[in-house]
Amino acid sequence: MCGIVGYVGKKQATPILLDALKRLEYRGYDSAGVAVLTDNGIEIHKTEGKISDLEAILPDIKGLCGIGHTRWATQGAPTTLNAHPHVSGNIAVVHNGIIENYQELYDELKGEGYEFVSETDTEVLAHLIHRYYKGNLVDAVIEGLKKVKGTYAAAFLCGDSEQMVAARKDSPLVAGLGKGENFVASDVTALLKYTRNVVYMHDFEIVSLSGENIQFFDFDGNPVKEHIESIEWNIEAAEKSGYPHFMLKEINEQVTSVHDTMMGRISELTGDVLLGEVKLPREEIRKLERIVIIACGTSYNAGLLGKYVFEALAGIHTDVDISSEFRYANPVLEDSTLVISISQSGETADTIAATKEAKTYGCRTLSITNVVGTTLSREVENIVYTRAGPEIGVAATKTFTSQLIALYLLAIHFARIRKKLDVDRSKRLLVSLKQLPGMIQQILNNKELIRKQAIRFSTARDYFFLGRSLNFPIALEGALKLKEISYIHAEGYAAGELKHGPLALISKDTPVVALATRASTYDKMLNNIKEVKARAAPVLAIAGMDDTEIEKYVDAVIRVPVTDELLYPVLISVVVQLLAYYTADALGCSIDKPRNLAKSVTVE
Ligand code: G6P
Repeated sequence: MCGIVGYVGKKQATPILLDALKRLEYRGYDSAGVAVLTDNGIEIHKTEGKISDLEAILPDIKGLCGIGHTRWATQGAPTTLNAHPHVSGNIAVVHNGIIENYQELYDELKGEGYEFVSETDTEVLAHLIHRYYKGNLVDAVIEGLKKVKGTYAAAFLCGDSEQMVAARKDSPLVAGLGKGENFVASDVTALLKYTRNVVYMHDFEIVSLSGENIQFFDFDGNPVKEHIESIEWNIEAAEKSGYPHFMLKEINEQVTSVHDTMMGRISELTGDVLLGEVKLPREEIRKLERIVIIACGTSYNAGLLGKYVFEALAGIHTDVDISSEFRYANPVLEDSTLVISISQSGETADTIAATKEAKTYGCRTLSITNVVGTTLSREVENIVYTRAGPEIGVAATKTFTSQLIALYLLAIHFARIRKKLDVDRSKRLLVSLKQLPGMIQQILNNKELIRKQAIRFSTARDYFFLGRSLNFPIALEGALKLKEISYIHAEGYAAGELKHGPLALISKDTPVVALATRASTYDKMLNNIKEVKARAAPVLAIAGMDDTEIEKYVDAVIRVPVTDELLYPVLISVVVQLLAYYTADALGCSIDKPRNLAKSVTVE
């Protein structure tokens, strides 16, 4: 995610930048830096670690204009060298986002003689703007950014004048208007201490700031008149972008995080998935006989979906194991096995230990994780980052859907190489994947309906989630979410298995959430719904918008947009997350920090 800030005015910039960065630390905290315009040109200081580590190494810098950054690494390890700001001549830049055509720009700039010192995609931005700078920073930023594909909120400083320029596309950026001073930041939280008058910038918009002036432009250099808003939130509310809980904020962020996981990894033209970070030779992928997925908690539930997609798309036999079980079992593994460890944090002790155990068998290893430079990432040969940004709520939400997307991408990638997926089907799947963020937005627009259903069943003591096939892992995840944050006992069940025991518990007091999107198992699912209805259970179905039949059998229906049968789990996940959230909210639970649970379990 990363946080960026910029200040220009009459005060010393450094203390303001540091203070604002501390407010943005929730966006990333693996390295940080500032660039300040002093009498001797731009002075840059950066370090790996937190803002407090940066503060500890900063000398007394005299300067009234500066930019700062707190990083959440996506490309390049969290080292001092990769920390922002990045520089090219007298241009400095801080950036939040991902440059999709990084390699192309890198080759071009390298060919022109630009030297690269970091592994980050951001460094191309510095060189690009330097290339186009002829005395007017706004013009240079416009020219440079026109060459960039990807996402950015970026702020630029030039050694020539006390001026700052910032621009955005698909990453948040606000400009703050003060008296004789102006600001930019990723988030209003950073600015509230200094001003409450802000402009939320739009995509393809540029702002030029000095102490006395602030001007907005479009990418053709035309001035744009912006609407100034006055922010009434207190700082605590602002940190959550006005949401009452981080969990709800993070559920809403899935429109962006799901998009970010896919970004630059899909070629609709060829029907291929571009996963350059997977270094497994194509020949080995062709010869893979088995995948073993190891993970804990929510990541384990994502792994269960992985089994379906690797088998259905790529024809690779896949087993899924809980890390704490795997490490003490006697696994049978060959060197033709790929072990995939899934971990949001990359620091879960059992998953790390299980991965180490797997390595002793000589298997290939790959990890799907959200955090760069973690212990797990140092253990494996291949890493697919989910790029969901930091997650604060203990109950995983956006990192789960990003894990699902990463698994789809990997499965399609393997399937194409193994010639198990023809181009047309692959293209259709990729187009459908790209439509998911818009569909998640549609579900979020409808959240009031989900809230009503959650409140209706919030007094239940026991809850069941039923699903079949690809929806079964989401039934488990729905039950897990509800247990974690509302403390209601909930069970996820493969719907066909219900009659082998748990049906004995079904009564008018046990609400059943039936995940009933269209699939080959749909009719069977209807039968299972009838089974629980016959025992008087209230049934809440989650079904596609095209389903006109389901309402005959259930008490209420929550609709999701129609997508490819394989992809419904992503949409259903958002619904079950909201259901758990609103239930816990109705019960007054501590949603972001549920009792007895931790975000990352670094002990066995
Ligand atoms: C803890 C968290 C869960 C998470 C699990 C695995 O239990 O509370 O939300 O799913 O750890 O964490 P990981 O970081 O390995 O995905």
